[in-house]
Amino acid sequence: MQVYEAIAARKSVRKYLPKPVEPEKLNAVLEAGRDAPSARNLQTWRFVVVQDKELLEKLVPACGNQKFVGEATAFLAVCSDDVHEMTCNQLAAPVDCSIALSFMMLRATEVGLSTCWLGHFYEDQVKALLNIPAEYRVIAVTPLGYAAEEPAARPRKPLSELVAYEDKWL
Ligand SMILES: Cc1cc2nc3c(=O)[nH]c(=O)nc-3n(C[C@H](O)[C@H](O)[C@H](O)COP(=O)(O)O)c2cc1C
Repeated sequence: MQVYEAIAARKSVRKYLPKPVEPEKLNAVLEAGRDAPSARNLQTWRFVVVQDKELLEKLVPACGNQKFVGEATAFLAVCSDDVHEMTCNQLAAPVDCSIALSFMMLRATEVGLSTCWLGHFYEDQVKALLNIPAEYRVIAVTPLGYAAEEPAARPRKPLSELVAYEDKWL
């Protein structure tokens, strides 16, 4: 699968089969996160993998009762303890962790797995359930597993609404 094929094929999946994720596929996904770029190459991200069914069920309320979190056979949480701000006034950690999760989601697509980026989660609850140290922030989480649905592509704005050229702002 070419990169753009994975980009185009990825969809947020909210129904999962009870089929476990094979260790080699999980590893392939994690390796893609490891390969991601990060500010100053600090790689402060940490990836928490959950496959224990009981823990997955406990994550459902921590993720705002999104039931599919308990259906998927794996779950990834991307965390960082980095608090440094870049010259551009953005925190590096959410940027780095978001890139890492994006890379992992694309690799997941390539190996036949599905994901759904979740922002609707209670960080304190996720941290408590997964024993994530206090100084770490949980930036993003996703279920990971085999899709039980084929969602249609969601609409995207046309480039004409999104792109400015040179000094001619939209
Ligand atoms: C930062 C972020 C937070 C999101 N949070 C949730 C969420 O909590 N629950 C959910 O079902 N989808 C969530 N989504 C998925 C979006 O709804 C989805 O990406 C969007 O509708 C486009 O659909 P697609 O991913 O299938 O292309 C989130 C996506 C992003 C990038």
